[in-house]
Amino acid sequence: MSGQHTLPDLPYAYDALEPFISRQIMELHHKKHHQTYVNALNAAEQAYAKASTPKERIALQSALKFNGGGHINHSLFWKNLAPAKSENKGNGGSLHEGPLKKAIVEAFGTFDNLKKEFNTTTAGIQGSGWGWLGVNPQSKRLEIATTSNQDPLLTLTPVIGVDVWEHAFYLQYLNVKVDYLNAIWNVINFEEAEKRYLDAVGGAKL
Ligand SMILES: [Fe+2]
Repeated sequence: MSGQHTLPDLPYAYDALEPFISRQIMELHHKKHHQTYVNALNAAEQAYAKASTPKERIALQSALKFNGGGHINHSLFWKNLAPAKSENKGNGGSLHEGPLKKAIVEAFGTFDNLKKEFNTTTAGIQGSGWGWLGVNPQSKRLEIATTSNQDPLLTLTPVIGVDVWEHAFYLQYLNVKVDYLNAIWNVINFEEAEKRYLDAVGGAKL
């Protein structure tokens, strides 16, 4: 049924990602920004269901893409983060030995190189967008990509997505996007990332 999307709960408390992402950012980002995408997606889907002409349906395409992408991307982003191991709060930021680490080393040489390449590429996004680590569906290798606005990642299967809209960092990091990008690796949920990686490669690399 159209127009039935709901805001998913966060899998941790609003302050659980501190000091790397503040409680204030998490609350606003989840309760206000993500909720707005959900509401607007539902409204656009309801309008689409009622639309009777191609012109009416075409007029709704950008709202569906923007808010649908916003809902998909943020739903993925919350699961993609975890309280930091460096703060003794969880397993965030900890990449253990296993198939994901092996694939990262194959594609980027070292874990540090992945972070460096990801941050450089993602910092270069003009305007608002997302940075991604994903699996190329043909080669099954990991690649870095970016998308603009709220466009979902369609060329690769997403493994890690990082929101680089100003609303994701400005209240804590002001205009210094690179500090946010350096910090976020402390709260990346690599267990979730490895699950997505294994789904994407279909067990072929096990
Ligand atoms: Fe966001």
